[in-house]
Amino acid sequence: MSSDTATLDLSHLWMPFTANRTFKAHPRLLSAAKGMYYTDTDGHQILDGTAGLWCVNAGHGRQPIVDALHAQAQKLDYASSFNIGHVDSFRAASEVAALMPQSMDRVFFTNSGSESVDTALKIAVAYHRAKGEGQRTRLIGRERGYHGVGFGGISVGGISPNRKAFSGVLLPGVDHLPHTHDLAHNAFSRGQPAWGGEHFADALEDIIALHDASTIAAVIVEPLAGSTGVLLPPKGYLERLRAITEKYGILLIFDEIITGFGRLGAATASDFFGVKPDIITFAKGVCNAAVPAGGVSVRRGIYDTIVDATEGGIEFFHGYTFSAHPMATAAILATLGIYRAEKLFERAHGLAGKFEDAAHALKGTAHVIDIRNLGLVAGIELESRPGAKGARAAEVFAKCFDRGLLVRYTGDIIAISPPLIIEEKQIDQIFSTLKDVISVVK
Ligand SMILES: Cc1ncc(COP(=O)(O)O)c(C=O)c1O
Repeated sequence: MSSDTATLDLSHLWMPFTANRTFKAHPRLLSAAKGMYYTDTDGHQILDGTAGLWCVNAGHGRQPIVDALHAQAQKLDYASSFNIGHVDSFRAASEVAALMPQSMDRVFFTNSGSESVDTALKIAVAYHRAKGEGQRTRLIGRERGYHGVGFGGISVGGISPNRKAFSGVLLPGVDHLPHTHDLAHNAFSRGQPAWGGEHFADALEDIIALHDASTIAAVIVEPLAGSTGVLLPPKGYLERLRAITEKYGILLIFDEIITGFGRLGAATASDFFGVKPDIITFAKGVCNAAVPAGGVSVRRGIYDTIVDATEGGIEFFHGYTFSAHPMATAAILATLGIYRAEKLFERAHGLAGKFEDAAHALKGTAHVIDIRNLGLVAGIELESRPGAKGARAAEVFAKCFDRGLLVRYTGDIIAISPPLIIEEKQIDQIFSTLKDVISVVK
């Protein structure tokens, strides 16, 4: 730590998803960010290999967003969206809707991915009830899925440590699809793995047979699972999930908190894969993470069904004090403007081949048992040390940081997801640093 942070009291802050004691013994503190780089409190430049936390897609400190936030704070600091509105909330919804698949153009704003997921689950249940099928309350998630930290999200989520402490109070009536990660068949696939798509999706038929379709409201999956360690959908998987859910009148929710807004080189993963769900959740990249913001986009018919089912008054008893907060909508409008002006989704698409080659050049490096990639996302899976799952990747993370590179790890998987403004030489820097570091860890 630099001299001005040496006296900083770290005791009061309870850090999220962090080993608090380890961090506080060896803190890594950031003080500034611009473009592709963070600066830490010692003045070191750190290349951002993770777009913050899968969210700063346009790069850090973008002036149009800074200017929009400054102007908004001076003009209208806050306006509720309950029975009153402000102009930019409608503009932001229209601009988001324009990027969503055709007719999925009704948008509900939240402040985070977790809120977006819980909102989507509630919309799904409310929709069936409005249609006169109130018995459809069951929700189907997937093993290893990450859908944030609300009770809804951890119930449909499939990451055991996130659920364990709360197992007695999770939502009832939830079941899980198997995850799609299969190293025996698909290790070192470039792009979507070839094996297992229909096989994994057909497990939904068994779940439906067990519970009966008439009890199931929705299936929620990440089209590409990020937080659990970059698990890609095998070819044909999402298509088959869509076909099965459609056959039984079950809503399909794509959790696009990570994949939305350019990560795969398209506005949404739905667009990228050519598979249209009924509901899409988003957050993170929608406003370049400049302020907290998120939302849910739904098929027009879902909105109409819920709204038309009510004689008058409030149709959907749900919302947040900060839904469509003026600072959030200002950031959203400015961010989407940058994506358009700089064609960043197309840029990500154009860089994906180079990114794939650079990632797969790590094949053969010690400990590396899989490399997987799509768009500007890569996962590098390391063999775990016996009895010390996650220790090797934690060491890689720390050593990369010391060498001026921010990566993310979960278990023994390193995830790379840089801002979409990345230059080719920075792609090389990420993977050559990783190769050097992975080669030297025990
Ligand atoms: C797919 C997915 N859903 C939900 C979330 C939760 O988002 P938040 O941390 O903004 O609540 C995340 C966060 O990484 C995510 O990746």
